[in-house]
Amino acid sequence: MSAKTILITGASGGLGAALARAHARAGVTLLLWGRDEARLNQAAAECRALGAACTVDAFDIRDIDGVIARLSASDACAPIDLAIFNAGLGGIVRDGARAEAPQASRATAEVNFVSPVVGASLMADVMAQRGGGHIVLVGSIAESYPLPMAPTYAATKAGLAMFAEALGIRMAKHNVRVTLVSPGFIDTAMSRQVPQAKPFLMTADAAAAIIIRKIAKGARRIVVPWQFAVIRAVSNLLPRALVRAILGRA
Ligand SMILES: NC(=O)c1ccc[n+]([C@@H]2O[C@H](COP(=O)([O-])OP(=O)(O)OC[C@H]3O[C@@H](n4cnc5c(N)ncnc54)[C@H](OP(=O)(O)O)[C@@H]3O)[C@@H](O)[C@H]2O)c1
Repeated sequence: MSAKTILITGASGGLGAALARAHARAGVTLLLWGRDEARLNQAAAECRALGAACTVDAFDIRDIDGVIARLSASDACAPIDLAIFNAGLGGIVRDGARAEAPQASRATAEVNFVSPVVGASLMADVMAQRGGGHIVLVGSIAESYPLPMAPTYAATKAGLAMFAEALGIRMAKHNVRVTLVSPGFIDTAMSRQVPQAKPFLMTADAAAAIIIRKIAKGARRIVVPWQFAVIRAVSNLLPRALVRAILGRA
């Protein structure tokens, strides 16, 4: 299926804006969500220059009722063929803190897990009703690791991975494809906040090109850069106690 109407959350910058540019062409309508209106408009202008029609909606996706209302209204107006839930909040615990600040933990959980899960559930239902569609959830390779420097972030991404797999099984008979994207390090505002070394760092445009090629092929799981799939396969062979010990020293 060639997607004509595409929703992308977190499209005001980073990977979301790159995914929007990578999909932009004549005949495609992009619904771009984010918070920063100026950067959303900038992303939309770049996509229009590539031939796409765009609408932008600047709001906080922690407003879950707002997410439900907007998805329902947009889809009723023009059925969404491809819904990419990409918006995310990084969650590195600040230096010297004993634990995560409760409000930061809540925001991370709402942006990274509650909002995409609710949005994807709604889209799965309407897509199933009309006999097909494609949902993409952007997680993280962090889904596989109990990161002590970002416990809520790692947990939200692990939860999202489980959700994507379960939803994919459930939706198979309705011709609704579900894809989980698990990035390693992509050069964006989020990764620039990570002080540690960032092996195999990739530009957002390079990652987006790989992701949209694999989405078009209907991949269920995408790891970018691919080297992180190898790292995960190897680390899965290690005893969990050893993984915990390594992460505890990091
Ligand atoms: N960069 C990496 O190395 C990396 C690695 C693994 C996974 N990921 C995942 O990739 C996805 C994209 O991240 P990125 O690297 O492109 O980060 P980014 O440059 O920081 O972009 C994050 C996007 O999410 C939006 N967003 C955040 N909170 C929001 C909220 N409450 N309401 C609405 N929109 C909100 C931001 O909008 P505003 O800026 O307008 O607020 C922005 O468009 C995330 O799910 C992230 O977890 C990234």
